[in-house]
Order: sequence, then structure tokens, then C-alpha cells
Amino acid sequence: MDDVTLARAFHVLAIIHWIGGMAFVTLVVLPLACRVADPHEGLALFESVERRFSAQVRLSVPVAGLSGFYMAERLDAWARFLDPAQWWLGGMLLLWLLFMTILFVVEPAIGVRLLEAGRSDPAGLLSRVARVHWLLLGASAAVAGTAVLGAHGLLG
Ligand code: HEM
Repeated sequence: MDDVTLARAFHVLAIIHWIGGMAFVTLVVLPLACRVADPHEGLALFESVERRFSAQVRLSVPVAGLSGFYMAERLDAWARFLDPAQWWLGGMLLLWLLFMTILFVVEPAIGVRLLEAGRSDPAGLLSRVARVHWLLLGASAAVAGTAVLGAHGLLG
């Protein structure tokens, strides 16, 4: 097995953990949390799952980026990131930058404050959090799907 194939395996595994976990939170945990009779309890359920997942995803998102940069270097693909015909490569990079910013800048800076501010209306906070998760999951699924099609030559 060559090093690029190995990097591709790390890339895909990291993405399975990151986006699969986000799908679980969005499609299983949040709907359950929204249905708990006491919204304070629902919020506590969401927070405990999210805290554990966000500690793990702080590893898988950087691994996805490092393996991606490694492949880009080894395949000499940097110019392709600027080619509009290969827009799916730019899509991967943008999504990764968005999540790195959320995980390492926004969450540490204002995550706790946002939760505290929303605690007076836990049901409203949960439904806002669910909307944001749906948006991020939709964008991630679109990027992952188009990246597979693009990497295998099906997007022109
Ligand atoms: C720093 C960010 C990233 C960089 C530099 C990067 C780079 C790359 C490169 C160079 C390839 C190989 C392309 C080819 O074979 O022509 C690739 C493949 C791929 N990437 Fe990324 N990527 C990044 C982030 C992401 C993200 C965020 C996702 C998912 C949402 C993603 C999903 C994929 C998928 C599914 C493949 C194709 C795997 C296959 O079927 O062979 N990448 N990436």
C-alpha cells in the first residue's frame, strides 16, 4: 500500500467519525432531547453527549485536514484547488475551515456563555441548536458526497 492510499484511509476514517457523529447528534440525540418532558433535562442530555463528542472531534477534524494536506502535497494538487472545474476540492477546504473555527475559536470563546444565556428558555435553545446542526449536517453530507464523485472523476 502506498503512502497516499494510507493518507486517504485516514482521511475517510476521520470524516466517518466526525460527520457520522454529527449525524447521530442531529438525527438521534437532539430529537430525543427535544421530546423529554422537562426541557432542562433535555438540554442536560444534549450537553453531556455534545461535551464528550466535541472532545473526540477535536482530534478527528485535524486528522482529516492533515491527511488532506498530505494528499494534496503528494498528488501535487494545489493548483487544482484554484480550478473552478474542481470546485469540490475548495468545498472540502472551506467546510474544514468552518469546523476548525467553530471547534477551536467560537466554542471556547463563547460556547459556555451562549448555553448560559439560553438556559432561561431551554426548549427554544434546543430548537435553535437543532436547526444549526441540520444546516451543518446538510452542508457536510453535500461536501462528502461531491468529494467522492469528484475524486473518482464523475464531476467532469
Ligand atoms: C483541509 C481540508 C481538506 C483537504 C486539503 C482535502 C484534500 C483532499 C484530497 C487532496 C483528496 C484526494 C483528491 C483526489 O484523489 O483527486 C481528498 C479526497 C477526499 N476528501 Fe478531502 N480534503 C479536506 C477536507 C475534507 C472534508 C472536510 C471532507 C468531507 C466533508 C473531505 C472528503 C473527502 C472525500 C470523501 C474524498 C474522496 C475519497 C475517495 O473516495 O477516494 N475532505 N481530499
